[in-house]
Parts: sequence; structure tokens; C-alpha cells
Amino acid sequence: MGVRFLKIAVVYFFIAVCLGLVMGIIQDFSYTSVHAHLNLLGWVSMSIFGLIYSIYPSASETKLAKTHFWLHNLGVPIMQGVLFIELLTDNTSLTIGIIIGSIMVVIGVLLFMINILKLKSS
Ligand code: HEM
Ligand code: HEM
Repeated sequence: MGVRFLKIAVVYFFIAVCLGLVMGIIQDFSYTSVHAHLNLLGWVSMSIFGLIYSIYPSASETKLAKTHFWLHNLGVPIMQGVLFIELLTDNTSLTIGIIIGSIMVVIGVLLFMINILKLKSS
């Protein structure tokens, strides 16, 4: 689970910095939120999940961890993919998709919190 999170994180990192680079070159900052969240929910958060699950393998083998993994990895692309399409096509009719993706991420974070709080302190 730890390594899986880390592998996905580096892919988000590459995509997010490419988007940042393109935004800088074409001087169009309307996609800043997508760039920021691909970096922060994709690269930074998933790297931290990956490192924590590597340090505490027992936490990575729980049902909570598996559900967290899928909620985060479906929620982030849904949330940011729909936001990107909305910005690209200049319409706001798909906002429900952003909300659904965001709620999936938030529930995933809740499960992650419970999972880590259940760790036995040594
Ligand atoms: C080669 C790497 C990167 C490039 C070319 C780049 C480029 C950019 C650009 C052009 C903006 C918009 C600036 C503006 O709105 O005035 C931006 C904003 C932002 N970037 Fe990056 N970025 C890079 C890496 C990163 C990384 C690694 C992170 C986080 C881990 C990050 C987080 C952010 C955030 C949070 C914002 C929004 C800042 C705000 O709210 O004003 N960026 N970036
Ligand atoms: C489900 C999770 C999250 C939701 C629903 C969410 C939502 C939002 C919203 C609505 C905004 C303002 C609108 C916008 O700039 O387009 C925003 C901005 C921002 N968020 Fe998040 N956020 C989430 C997670 C995070 C996390 C985990 C971080 C950092 C680790 C973060 C960092 C930021 C930053 C730096 C900005 C300003 C970026 C900018 O200038 O566009 N967010 N977020």
C-alpha cells in the first residue's frame, strides 16, 4: 500500500509541474487551483500517506486503509478532472461532480484519521 501510494504520487507530481510549467509559459493562471490540488492532494498528500503506510505496515493492511486508498484515488481525479473540464469549457454545469469527488476525498481522510488514531503508540 505504501509503495502504491508513492508510485501514484510521483505521477501526479510530474503531471502537476507540467501543468504549472504550461501555465507559466502561456501566462494563463485560470488552472492554478487544479495545479495546486494535483500537487497538494496528489503529490504531497499521497507521498505522506505512502511514507506513513511504509513506516507502519500494520496500518496499511486494514480495511480502513484499502477504502481510504480507493476513495482518495477515485476522488482526486474526479474532483480535479471535472474542475479542469469546467475551466476548459467555461461552464459550471458539472459542479456536482467536483462536490462528489471532494466528498469522497474528505471521507477518505476521515478513514485515514481513524486508521492512524487506532495505531498503538510504543
Ligand atoms: C516546475 C514546477 C512548478 C511550476 C512551473 C509551477 C508553476 C506555477 C504557476 C505558474 C502558478 C500560478 C501563479 C499565479 O497564480 O500567480 C503556480 C501556483 C501554485 N503552485 Fe506551482 N509550480 C510548480 C511546482 C509546484 C509545487 C511542487 C507545488 C506544491 C507542492 C506548487 C504549488 C502551487 C500552489 C499552492 C499555487 C497557488 C499559489 C496561490 O494560491 O497563489 N507548485 N505554480
Ligand atoms: C477535499 C479536499 C479539498 C477541497 C474540497 C479543497 C477546496 C478548495 C477550494 C474550494 C479552494 C478555493 C478555490 C480555488 O482556489 O479554486 C481551495 C484552495 C486552496 N487549497 Fe484546497 N481543498 C482541498 C484540499 C486541500 C489540501 C489537502 C491542501 C494542501 C495540502 C489544499 C491547499 C489549497 C491551497 C494552497 C489553495 C489556494 C490555491 C489557489 O490559489 O488556487 N487544499 N481549496
